[in-house]
Amino acid sequence: MCGIIGYTGPKKTLEVLISGLKNLEYRGYDSAGISIIGDNNDIFSFKTKGRIAVLEERLKKMGEISHNRAGIGHTRWATHGIPNEINAHPHKDCTGNIWVVHNGIIENYRILRKRLEAEGHKFISETDTEIISHLIEKYYKNPAVGGLEEAVKLALGEVIGAYGIAVISSFEPDKIVAARFSSPLIIGIGDNEAFVASDVSAVVNHTRKVIYLDDGEVAVILPDKYQIFDLNNNSEKREKQIKEISWEIKEAQKGGFSHFLFKEIYEEPEAITNAIRGRINLEDGTAKLGGLELSEKRFAEIERLVIIACGTAHYAAMVGEYMMEEYAGLPTEVEMGSEFRYRKPVLDKKTAVLAISQSGETADTLMAVREAKRKGAFVFGLVNTVGSTIARECGVGVYNHAGLEVAVPASKSFISQLSILALLTVFLGRQRQMSNTMGTRILKELANLPKLAEQILKQDELIRDLAKKYGAYKNFLYLGRKYNYPIALEGALKLKELAYCIHAEGYPAGEMKHGPIAMIDEDFPSVVIATSDSVYDKMVNAIQEIKARNGKVIAIATEGNEDIKNFTDDVIYIPKTLEMLTPILATIPLHFFACHIGVLNRCDIDKPRNLAKSVVVE
Ligand code: F6R
Repeated sequence: MCGIIGYTGPKKTLEVLISGLKNLEYRGYDSAGISIIGDNNDIFSFKTKGRIAVLEERLKKMGEISHNRAGIGHTRWATHGIPNEINAHPHKDCTGNIWVVHNGIIENYRILRKRLEAEGHKFISETDTEIISHLIEKYYKNPAVGGLEEAVKLALGEVIGAYGIAVISSFEPDKIVAARFSSPLIIGIGDNEAFVASDVSAVVNHTRKVIYLDDGEVAVILPDKYQIFDLNNNSEKREKQIKEISWEIKEAQKGGFSHFLFKEIYEEPEAITNAIRGRINLEDGTAKLGGLELSEKRFAEIERLVIIACGTAHYAAMVGEYMMEEYAGLPTEVEMGSEFRYRKPVLDKKTAVLAISQSGETADTLMAVREAKRKGAFVFGLVNTVGSTIARECGVGVYNHAGLEVAVPASKSFISQLSILALLTVFLGRQRQMSNTMGTRILKELANLPKLAEQILKQDELIRDLAKKYGAYKNFLYLGRKYNYPIALEGALKLKELAYCIHAEGYPAGEMKHGPIAMIDEDFPSVVIATSDSVYDKMVNAIQEIKARNGKVIAIATEGNEDIKNFTDDVIYIPKTLEMLTPILATIPLHFFACHIGVLNRCDIDKPRNLAKSVVVE
């Protein structure tokens, strides 16, 4: 999704902006642009459709860019208007003195645009963002008196919607004004230099000191100082804590792999280790979740759990539902963030709401969190990105510690979410009827899981060969049942995302005969998760039904099950573990399979078309 970087300081502004934009590439985008102020207060701006590399190449051809005062840059993920140079950010006012980059959506932009046009403002793009530049122009009558920040505050007073913005003006060449409402923004504090960015990866090459802006805050940023104000109360200055970033920049690099996604799948065993480190208490047969400790009594009293999440995180939540009900005896429901808010959720003091999000910025999940809090529910989070909006707004919660996930499609974060849901099941189960023996058994098995996951990585080549065999098919059906039904959904979603010219559908195996079986023929292969567990016989039935219709079957099966080879076309084996933990292992080959098919079909698996890492629009 859109990315913002802004810089003011002694370095070459263009270089800082381009390197920042490159670090934001993983968020997914379709066009990019920069605007920089020069010593004569003139503003140089350049935008392109496509990748940062194109922008960089074209800029190089222009020779040395001598503009070195404040500058802003942006990667755009189109919402209003097609991806092209005109719609790319930054956007200027009528005079060309004010330039704005924006993440989010301005919901009342049509009305505002009409009004501004009637007042004589000339628009050149189809974007909602451009109205912000013109609104600022309208209020920026006397720069010497009011200052850019005053004009920004007045302009934002008219805006309804979500925004993270950074603004520069040729009248105040070293200043950047930034503001946030429902779209993440941070300030990076350097040595006589300062940054603004939509996420820390854009600035981590330069500084580890960051401030997270909250909704309704405006920041005035100069190389040697910054000030943060309340948007609604001009005079109220906010004192904010400076946070130290702990992750290493090498986490944002490929480390010898062809793609970030392969690197991140290879990190899946480590994601389990990091998720469970220090959180297993074998003596008491329970999980030790530091972030929940202060609320233990509250957790003991809840009678119902509602889990909200989107996309892949939503599938993790579905697995969590099976775990909670079977082992914690806790009635659990799962809801997509995007639906939760528009229903009339029935929540009471005995219901806890868990929000799961890798980025911690997904707008649909965030809005659901706010709605649940508004309704008085006890809300807690399972979030990977430390300091993200969902993490902060939940207050109580568990961090994944899965490290930076750069590739747009979720991989290791999903494995981590499943691992922590297993820990949470033990934690909540032990507060209820779960025995010490059962708790200990799950935890021991969980502790052994990274080793088993490592073994699956060795099948990378075998899975690549299978991808070669099946990579030309245009449709796939993924089937699973019980714990592995959500994993079938995840496998199909990954194939859709990574090999976007291929259609894949995930289905609960028992439902196949109620409809999808009509599609099965020799050109419609199925990936069937048929591990040796309580639903194995039922999965075999589904396989037989497919084979009876000439369908090809790739099975994910448990090591030692040689028999399955007799009635399937290909088998990928995973080691034996507890049924509730099988999803963690079954996912790994499915991630590999989708990756290899994507690569063979020449798809950009790290940044699949139309997708974004943090979906910060509703
Ligand atoms: C799929 C994928 C998305 C995300 C979804 C939620 O590969 O990455 O479906 O899972 O957008 O994102 P987070 O977890 O950041 O809230």
